Amino acid sequence: MPLIDRLLSEWLRGDMELRAQSVRQEIETPIARQVDSDQPSDLVRYLERIAAEEHLVAILICGVGGSTVASTPFAPPDVSCGTRAASGAADPARVIATARGSVQVSAFPLTDNTAAGRSVLLVHDASFVDRRRATARDYILTFVAVSAVVLSLLFVSGAWWAFRRWARVLLNDIRGRHFREDARSASLSLPILAQLREVLRELEDRQRLEIEYQENWTPSALQHVVREFLKSPELLIVSNREPYIHSFDAAHVPRVQIPASGMVTALEPVVRACQGTWIAHGSGDADRSVVDRRDGISVPPHAPSYRLRRVWLTAEQEEGYYYGLANEGLWPLCHLAYVRPEFRESDWRQYVAVNERFAAVVAEEADSESPVVLIQDYHFALLPAFIRQHRRDATIVHFWHIPWPNPETFGVCPWKSDLIAGLLQADILGFHTRYHCQNFLDAVDRYVEGQIDHEHMTVTVRDHTCQISAYPISIEWPPRHESSTASAEVCREAVRARYDIPPGATLGLGIERWDFTKGILERFSALQHLFDTRPQLRGRITLLQVVAPSRSKLPAYRALQERTLAKVTELNEQFGDRGWKPIVLVAEHQEPEQVFELYRAADFCLVNSLHDGMNLVAKEFVAARDDEDGVLILSTFTGASRELVEALLVNPYDAIETAAAIEAAVHMPRDERRERMCLMRRTVKHNNVFRWAGRMLVDAAQVRQRQRLAARSRAPKARTPLIGTGL
Ligand code: F6P
Repeated sequence: MPLIDRLLSEWLRGDMELRAQSVRQEIETPIARQVDSDQPSDLVRYLERIAAEEHLVAILICGVGGSTVASTPFAPPDVSCGTRAASGAADPARVIATARGSVQVSAFPLTDNTAAGRSVLLVHDASFVDRRRATARDYILTFVAVSAVVLSLLFVSGAWWAFRRWARVLLNDIRGRHFREDARSASLSLPILAQLREVLRELEDRQRLEIEYQENWTPSALQHVVREFLKSPELLIVSNREPYIHSFDAAHVPRVQIPASGMVTALEPVVRACQGTWIAHGSGDADRSVVDRRDGISVPPHAPSYRLRRVWLTAEQEEGYYYGLANEGLWPLCHLAYVRPEFRESDWRQYVAVNERFAAVVAEEADSESPVVLIQDYHFALLPAFIRQHRRDATIVHFWHIPWPNPETFGVCPWKSDLIAGLLQADILGFHTRYHCQNFLDAVDRYVEGQIDHEHMTVTVRDHTCQISAYPISIEWPPRHESSTASAEVCREAVRARYDIPPGATLGLGIERWDFTKGILERFSALQHLFDTRPQLRGRITLLQVVAPSRSKLPAYRALQERTLAKVTELNEQFGDRGWKPIVLVAEHQEPEQVFELYRAADFCLVNSLHDGMNLVAKEFVAARDDEDGVLILSTFTGASRELVEALLVNPYDAIETAAAIEAAVHMPRDERRERMCLMRRTVKHNNVFRWAGRMLVDAAQVRQRQRLAARSRAPKARTPLIGTGL
């Protein structure tokens, strides 16, 4: 605007100046002739005519010294020969603002000899310059405004069109759940579109995971919990039993074996998904020969994904801590199987020492801030307290895999208060059922000093709060060996052929560690009752009983083994006939793939534990039956019976009831078997082990968050002494 303004004024003034020059040439001679005549009125008339013809405001003839020789009438009072003289002649054209508007005054000397020393002032009306400038400014403003509107409209419609194309492509992507650059949208693959797709993809992944861990827990949902909720901490898992045991075979070559342990079955897929370090007792005779310098080994052997750190125990330690306090003391104490617990002071000392040793190993292995330590089972009741002495910042989750009895029963243990106090140093203490949680709280109430919050199921002892919760353990879903094992039909034929089971006999399966809690003898009694009372069923049922020898050093276990063998012999002699035996006993450890084959081959599975925290055999049997067949007979004293309510539930101490359940299993129609199995499969799939671990880890994340907040609100108190010290 200022530029155009200036150019326009210069141009118009230049134009006026040119016109002044031509007027000057026209009037110079006539003026020279008349200026000294004695008829001054003729000169004024002449000037008037010229002014009218040339659209001049006024013409002034100036004499020497600034006097006015002649002038047209009505010359603006602000314009006079005096002012002109005062301004000097250097500027031939000047714009003067007058009361009637601005005028341009062009001055030039008369060069004719007769008029020498005089000059002429030609006064042009210059107000039109301002008017033209104002008009031009209006035009420009209007043009700019109109252009802006037109350009904006063009831009907005262009942007709208482009946006609609992007939106269409994106909507198609979203509808098709497909965020890859395809040929059709390649031309649109601007960075912004690519970023949008990226965000959408992330959102979709997140949503899928959220759905997964609310509906269908998977390893990736569990990994998501570790990453997003716990912010990927260092994970340390501690258990007595190791997931892989190396033993020398006959040729002194180390062979790996997976132990018969519900804890290992459940935890191994979790650790595989989350990685971390699993710390456990190295119990195999070839274990030392395969570890690295830090006593570790990467496992699983065929696809390593986490580190197993082995802890070595002396024979004396193993004797006192594992066989003694854990398995002769706590195991019978917590399982109501009517085997008397043994408590020896020497065992207790070893138990304390081994718990201390494992705490030292945890401290040694933890090389980051705030690690998460997941402790397993009754072997490590004191471990939370010992770990706290090394690492106050650790988040400790302790899961008690066996039942917790009522306070009277637990009260016979001489070290009950120490055990409870040790456990309460965990941040979370988990049991399979709410009933066990309640038993534990009752024991706390009775045997230790602490503040119990029944509403939130927490116990606070000297500023430390432990949350007690029920997390029913489970198994991996889909089961690991599902795809690698043959169909149920093929398994049935293979197993029957292997164990010589006649084609007409219904195949029942009993499979477990050779333990007095499992109700093995009670199962045989039920079978005996059945064959006694229903002779027509003789020859029509065979029980394949697989027992994995366990804790055989202990008298109670050896006694059970002897009684089992004797009872099998008794029944087979009593009812066996023409090659048919009511019981086929297989006393050996079987690898998980073999166990899976047995599950598929069985017509019914008998899980009649006298007492069991959960019992994963029941869940594994259900998981193996993708043919939706097979009947589960389940003890009401297992944690599993709370979930698998479609099983035939029995009191294992009641031989008549158990016998009736076996008979019902034999006669159950296919439709009913399918319906029950489908419902149980749905439960196990839904409540799989990733849910078990995921829920515990989500709670651990919440505990960490609360502790951080509590530490923050405590911080000002801690800093109080510094006030006034200048720090
Ligand atoms: O039931 C508790 C439990 O720890 C199981 O997880 C496991 O099967 C068993 O006890 C331990 O057996 P072992 O003494 O052979 O490790």
